[in-house]
Amino acid sequence: MSKRTLPSNASVATEGQSGRLVAPAATRNSDALCDLLVQFAPSTGRALEIASGTGQHVCAFARHLPDLNWQPTEIDPERRNSINAYAAELPTVAAAADLNATARGWHKDFADQNLIVLINLVHLISWAETRTLISEVAQALGSNGRFVLYGPFKRSGQLISDGDRRFHDALVQQDAEIGYKNDDDVTGLLTTHNLSIVEIVEMPANNLAFVAEKSDI
Ligand SMILES: C[S@@+](CC[C@H](N)C(=O)[O-])C[C@H]1O[C@@H](n2cnc3c(N)ncnc32)[C@H](O)[C@@H]1O
Repeated sequence: MSKRTLPSNASVATEGQSGRLVAPAATRNSDALCDLLVQFAPSTGRALEIASGTGQHVCAFARHLPDLNWQPTEIDPERRNSINAYAAELPTVAAAADLNATARGWHKDFADQNLIVLINLVHLISWAETRTLISEVAQALGSNGRFVLYGPFKRSGQLISDGDRRFHDALVQQDAEIGYKNDDDVTGLLTTHNLSIVEIVEMPANNLAFVAEKSDI
């Protein structure tokens, strides 16, 4: 797929200085995500971020986990420029790569990862695209590599707050194929791809983080 048309509040980023975009959500959740990664990520090796957005996260992660080599990726060229502007002086962050995460086959270009991070994308894509994405993640991970998937999710099929109901409804009205995914379905999908759940962490603002590890078959 190409980039979808989304409700105006689904992927907000405003102009900052020198091409650096600022996403209010990324500003808010960065500290909690850094704490999560410090607890669950491998401390060395190759780390791939999918749908890096503005680049605020990958630079914060690189500062907290300085012995990982980070590869940010993004489908949107303006956001790739923003990532590169933020990362200019961080030697462990590579130039942002162009990646459509829902296309088949990308794992071949990003093989043997020790860590893959994906923040706030799967509610913006369909279930079929989510399945492709997770399959690609599983193939891109090296042995015992970890996957951290963060975002808003249903719990046992239920939307858990008025804010979540409003956001999910706005997404579905824009595009009936997208919207919040169910936590149990995500767990099932990860397991199907030999990604065993290490922990499911309740995060601020009703978000969830799935931490999974690639098991040897
Ligand atoms: C809600 S933003 C989240 C960005 C960032 N992860 C964060 O949390 O700040 C969703 C991002 O996914 C990107 N995106 C949308 N569809 C994509 C796709 N198929 N493959 C890769 N990135 C995609 C958008 O350009 C946008 O930067």
